[in-house]
Amino acid sequence: MMDVDKLHQHAAKAGQSHVLQFWEELSEVQRSHLLEEIKNLDFLELNGFFRKAMDAFSASSSQEKVDARMEAVPQEVFGSATRDQQHLQQWEAQGFHQIADGKVAVLLLAGGQGTRLGVSYPKGMYDVGLPSHKSLFQIQAERILKLQKLAKERHGKDCVIPWYIMTSGRTMESTHDFFRKHQYFGLKEENLILFQQGMLPAMSFEGKVLMEEKGKLSMAPDGNGGLYRALGAHGVLKDMENRGIEYIHVYCVDNILVKVADPVFVGFCVTKEADCGAKVVEKMNPTEPVGVVCRVDGVYQVVEYSEITLATAQKRSTDGRLMYNAGNIANHFFTRRFLQQVVEVHEPQLQHHVAVKKIPHVDTQGVLIHPDKPNGIKMEKFVFDIFQFAKKFVVFEVLREEEFSPLKNADSQNGKDNPSTARHALLSLHHCWVLNAGGHFVDENGTRIPAIPLQSRKENGSAQDKTETTMQEAGDVPIQCEISPLVSYSGEGLEPYVKNKEFHAPLTIDETGIHQLVRNGL
Ligand code: UTP
Repeated sequence: MMDVDKLHQHAAKAGQSHVLQFWEELSEVQRSHLLEEIKNLDFLELNGFFRKAMDAFSASSSQEKVDARMEAVPQEVFGSATRDQQHLQQWEAQGFHQIADGKVAVLLLAGGQGTRLGVSYPKGMYDVGLPSHKSLFQIQAERILKLQKLAKERHGKDCVIPWYIMTSGRTMESTHDFFRKHQYFGLKEENLILFQQGMLPAMSFEGKVLMEEKGKLSMAPDGNGGLYRALGAHGVLKDMENRGIEYIHVYCVDNILVKVADPVFVGFCVTKEADCGAKVVEKMNPTEPVGVVCRVDGVYQVVEYSEITLATAQKRSTDGRLMYNAGNIANHFFTRRFLQQVVEVHEPQLQHHVAVKKIPHVDTQGVLIHPDKPNGIKMEKFVFDIFQFAKKFVVFEVLREEEFSPLKNADSQNGKDNPSTARHALLSLHHCWVLNAGGHFVDENGTRIPAIPLQSRKENGSAQDKTETTMQEAGDVPIQCEISPLVSYSGEGLEPYVKNKEFHAPLTIDETGIHQLVRNGL
């Protein structure tokens, strides 16, 4: 172990010697923790990150909005789950073919701190209150299991979709313990690969490392774009290569509807020979604070709502849809070769983005301060920062109500993206699956409950033209209907269970059967 004097010099050289200011007051345990944290930090590199990130941040704040340099995604790289119905089967077949050949892996970004949700454990362990009480991790694991099975049914051979999970120093151990405790939800342990992303200290505006306690730096994960450094640092791409993986689906832990390794999306990207693809949902409201995929100065990137003027956000195409409507949902396709190139060539050039925050810290007197206005920054890279390096970039639009409902906030906060909205999104979707498969719901008097299946809304074309109101939009409590991913991945295979049958809610269908009284066959 480096001795303390050396560490002192190491910190002092970078103007960060205050991190050892309270050394004399620390217990042995605190000292060894602090030494460990400092040992893993390259202060000079950190100062470099800070300077570059702040320079870019000041430049962007004083710069004009990007409107004039921006173009919408051209039609030729665009695919749509609703408007390209004639190709969906072919793309799906291509995706299953790659899955069956063992060429597809999924990569979960689960290193975030989930500050807004406010629980002390990793977000993937969260139970949004479904009838089954499954966690987000379990839902995703079961979708992988089901896909492996569907691919086997189509191609007659066993296949594996390895699951790479990026955690952080704060979530690694509990994530690991959780999976172990649940026997990896039926997946094989060797096909679940956990690795850890890097952490960076929060910094004051003057570039000084902030201390959370006298013996502890204020560390946070370096953003979901920390993925690329972590891929290199932990030999993850080598592991993929050894397993024969060519295509990787990357997604976020908090989207309860995520179609992991979606064969249609994978097949679309493979068919288009893309090295990088983004799944998007239609942005419908100009002021919705969602980043949009577009081109700026000829290269693809995600432009945040704050980076453009309202007038540009409001622009519409001739079809009535917003011109910049490719809403990013952090759901991406990459080839392994592209990731390899990113890790080897481009990653070091990616700059950190600055998030200005109120960061609790101990001051020079050792007093813990909870600032009431922003006092420093966190530095993060974003997973989509690498779009600019793609040689063939494609975009695939899907329906929000089928594929995107993120869990960000606690129920008590605002009414958006919280456990209730996530639960409702999943129950509403499964309700629609039952209707589309020919099942019906009846109320306590036996009267059929009218509802509009997703399919018919789809056929109406653009969401702009929709006149129907979904149950979710109406704010109603959805019908309690949950279908295990082990039974259906995306609504398929439900006819034998539900066709021409009437159900009372709550209804659950899992691998052991239907859990509800079937009133009468029709
Ligand atoms: P968010 O930016 O929404 O952050 O992450 P979060 O940690 O979930 O929540 P807040 O902002 O603290 O409330 C989007 C996705 O990126 C992952 C998260 O785990 C989530 O899947 N992420 C985020 C990482 O993997 N690493 C990070 O450093 C940050």
